[in-house]
Amino acid sequence: MTNKLVNFNCNDETLGEFPVLEGTYGYKVIDIQSLGKNGIYTYDPGFLSTASCESKITYIDGNKGILLHRGYPIDELAKKANYLEVCYILIYGQAPSKEEYESFKNTITRHTMVHQQIASFFQGFRRDAHPMAIMCGVVGALSAFYHDSLDVSNEKHREVAAFRLVAKMPTLAAMCFKYTNGQPFMFPQNDLGYAENFLHMMFATPCEKYEVNPTVAKAMDVIFTLHADHEQNASTTTVRLAGSSGANPFACIAAGIASLWGPAHGGANEACLKMLEQIGSVENIKEYVDKAKDKNDPFRLMGFGHRVYKNYDPRATVMRETCHNVLKELNIKDPLLDVAMELEKIALSDEYFIEKKLYPNVDFYSGIILKAIGIPTSMFTVIFAVARTVGWISHWLEMHKDPLFRIGRPRQLYTGESKRDFSPIHERE
Ligand code: CMC
Repeated sequence: MTNKLVNFNCNDETLGEFPVLEGTYGYKVIDIQSLGKNGIYTYDPGFLSTASCESKITYIDGNKGILLHRGYPIDELAKKANYLEVCYILIYGQAPSKEEYESFKNTITRHTMVHQQIASFFQGFRRDAHPMAIMCGVVGALSAFYHDSLDVSNEKHREVAAFRLVAKMPTLAAMCFKYTNGQPFMFPQNDLGYAENFLHMMFATPCEKYEVNPTVAKAMDVIFTLHADHEQNASTTTVRLAGSSGANPFACIAAGIASLWGPAHGGANEACLKMLEQIGSVENIKEYVDKAKDKNDPFRLMGFGHRVYKNYDPRATVMRETCHNVLKELNIKDPLLDVAMELEKIALSDEYFIEKKLYPNVDFYSGIILKAIGIPTSMFTVIFAVARTVGWISHWLEMHKDPLFRIGRPRQLYTGESKRDFSPIHERE
């Protein structure tokens, strides 16, 4: 994949030649690994121009609005595959045969139950704890329960940890919800599909039979699929960086959950719904659009804009369609959807948003669907975390097989004090 070399000069001194790498698609990448030996580093806060790794999992063309998982377009996956197939594709690199799928589904299904001691672990949290706070703690705590999948140098251990994480995340997420509500935890049911099982653990009680609405189950599956992976975003990079030190997979995924929680990342779906509620009605939209455009106002339109997409987010297109289907099927007239549709229309025709290429992203519609199916706002980012776990773990698995795998250790541009003398406290003013 190397096709030529570039030269860098600094103060008329040549720093050497550097290979230019080309992937299957995307920008060319200059391999500057040896630059540091010449006493010079690159400076790139927020990784705007830096490829942190080589990966074969996901490709995004933000200008064209393309998202491929292992080469398969996201809209085709959302329409023709289910989430567990997408999990298989992300982990193993290609679509499974029927037999492979059945075996994978069977394995995941049989890992959905969590160690019974984990239920007592929940009791340590306040009932009003944010479910993401509980998830950060409980997922990290899995490393205290599954000692037989902690040896990161053992490929089998790594694979079992991946199965456990994908399988147990919905169970833990539903336990967070039940704990907050004071309802008993529901055990997973092995005859239900992945999304259906999650909804059952969320909404069923031991008192009566609960049937999951198939449209709702399908929408949940699509939401999981659309959030499954998104290449080197903040949380995935966090997982890779945490894992680069050899940390165990459960601890790494807990680190990813912490990173996802922020409102600029996975917390945006929660923030977006709160914003729609705050806007309240179509008449107030202009005021909020003006606030978003005002340089002196920190307000941003949540669910708009993306670091990579400078075109329509392809996930948002599918999510928009799913959103309309769910509301129609459930016969829900949600005024927030009117606000969302009008906001989308106004923002897409506004010069500020056009010029900055700010389009609705996946979080713009997912919140409305989740609200329609009865999931409280505080659980939105948890659901994102459930779905993204397979992406995180696929990257973690890939990293462990990379021949260049080594601890991540960025450099810095130090702009602090120069060396100075320290006086003991009694000599200071
Ligand atoms: N509303 C108003 N202005 C915006 C918005 C917005 N949502 N997003 C970006 N801008 C403006 C920003 O003020 C800046 O203007 P200027 O160039 O005049 O300073 C310009 O657009 C570029 O913004 P940026 O912050 O430099 O872009 P970024 O790539 O660093 O940030 C982002 C990307 C997603 C953090 C940002 O667009 C944002 O905060 N959006 C709202 C939060 C959101 O919806 N996040 C979910 C992302 S999708 C889910 C995921 O992948 O996690």
